[in-house]
Amino acid sequence: MEFKGQHILTAEQFDKKGLLALFEKVREMEEVLVGQRAVSDGGKSKGFEKTLDGKIMATLFYEPSTRTRFSFETAFLRLGGKVISGADMMNTSSAKKKETLYDTGKTLSQLVDVIAMRHPEPGSVDELASGCSIPVINAGDGPHQHPTQGLLDIYTIWKNFEGKIDGLKIGMVGDMKHSRVAHSLCEFLKYWNVEFVFVSPEELKMPEVVVEELKGEDLKVLETTDLEGTIGEMDVILTTRIQEERFSSADEAEKHRGMYVFDSEMMEKAKADAILMNPLPRVDEITTDVDYDPRAKYFDQVGNGLAVRMALLAMVV
Ligand code: CP
Repeated sequence: MEFKGQHILTAEQFDKKGLLALFEKVREMEEVLVGQRAVSDGGKSKGFEKTLDGKIMATLFYEPSTRTRFSFETAFLRLGGKVISGADMMNTSSAKKKETLYDTGKTLSQLVDVIAMRHPEPGSVDELASGCSIPVINAGDGPHQHPTQGLLDIYTIWKNFEGKIDGLKIGMVGDMKHSRVAHSLCEFLKYWNVEFVFVSPEELKMPEVVVEELKGEDLKVLETTDLEGTIGEMDVILTTRIQEERFSSADEAEKHRGMYVFDSEMMEKAKADAILMNPLPRVDEITTDVDYDPRAKYFDQVGNGLAVRMALLAMVV
């Protein structure tokens, strides 16, 4: 796949070759980060700090974010670019005066070199991109997709299992219905010969379209409400919080809270070489005692995300 100048809107845009090319670039970026963090890397990072010299990225966040926005912005700054940060886009004249996203895209194309955008509406990022002559990267569109989170998650799996993803049993636990992170990760994992175990309350099952697509690739999928009976088979455990902001009321979300909690006792049932992932923020799905378990990878994911976004931005811009 071609990266330069492309919008990155959905996980479906990536093929396996594209993912592997990206992973190679991510490894390069990890060395750059080692150098920039003043640990000697034998000069390998030299010059990378000028990769995006003279370029400007605008971040347009119509929905709150901590990790994704700071990660995009840090990635751009570490490669020598400059950033205009729109952390609260719902309170700009564009949103208040009801400008179309198409027009906002046309306007910003006159000003900056790349946009990273988050919005609560599925497909919103496509509308912005339709007006843009510069690359647009989806930083999460409602419950639909979060492709760069999916990329950092698949990279975390690839890195931990040293490139051997075939044969892994992938568990995803929690609010499968609303988790754009899980939806995007499935799109990437379908290129490997893996098995899926989706654990969720009945009302929060993985959307049928995702399950059918995986089965269409001849991949085994088990859907269950039973975590204790399945955790011991999982090589990768991706937990997600209940996505309260996607429910009609807080009471509706509350009904499901605390159903699947990963504490030290639950982790005793998991494989010794499994990895436990979470896109963060965590709410109550992982207790802090698990942070000291070497299988806990959720803060490593944040670091991997920085290198992934540096690689992606360097390839796209
Ligand atoms: N993982 C993630 O998308 O976190 P933020 O909502 O803080 O960006």
